[in-house]
Amino acid sequence: MTPSVDYQYLNIRGKTHLVTKGPHVYGESTKNGWRAWDPTRSKLGSVITQDIDVGLSKNVKVLYLGAANGTTVSHVADVASIVYAVEFSPQPMRDLLNVARSRTNIIPLLKDARRPETYSHVVESNIDLLIQDVATRGQVKIALENKRFLSPTGKLFLVIKARSENVVTHPGIIFKSSIEDLSQEYAILKTKKLTSHHKDHLAIVAEPLP
Ligand SMILES: C[S@@+](CC[C@H](N)C(=O)[O-])C[C@H]1O[C@@H](n2cnc3c(N)ncnc32)[C@H](O)[C@@H]1O
Repeated sequence: MTPSVDYQYLNIRGKTHLVTKGPHVYGESTKNGWRAWDPTRSKLGSVITQDIDVGLSKNVKVLYLGAANGTTVSHVADVASIVYAVEFSPQPMRDLLNVARSRTNIIPLLKDARRPETYSHVVESNIDLLIQDVATRGQVKIALENKRFLSPTGKLFLVIKARSENVVTHPGIIFKSSIEDLSQEYAILKTKKLTSHHKDHLAIVAEPLP
């Protein structure tokens, strides 16, 4: 296993960066093995820099839905003990495979997050942190269906992209109904509307209800 370390803040060439320690991936600034985690390229990174506890800590087991090319996954893997990284599109999966090659704790899964039964034989059932950033229709349904993997003490970090649900409805209306629907099976701990680089996205931190 890759040795797990936490994240921290570090001054690199005169600028303070959120950093994780691990193999270099996407041209990010580095110092002594620490890699800058760019919050403009990562919603999770953006929320962490806003001092919100998303449940990412040393040695957690993570199921990541919407892994894309592995930019955020790589930082999560620098901290977590294992990351099951689900992505259904073959093109970003190629980049994700390259990221996984430089680490021993990323399990890339070319799967559809709407069909958790297709990866339930691989993913453990006591996941500490379920991260979801799929930007597709039915985002809450996916979070509800993947709750089966979460430990009772685990956490969900969910990003809702309003425009993926409906391009004409006001994002505020989408966010309100998403929170209502999610509350059937999760206790909402924190919500945060993202701005600038991640416009019209809502981040939600929640824990599974029994
Ligand atoms: C906004 S991008 C994720 C960015 C990534 N989380 C990051 O920070 O680096 C959304 C990704 O979710 C993937 N996706 C969308 N629907 C999916 C599904 N049903 N199952 C798995 N992946 C899906 C898309 O192919 C895309 O790569």
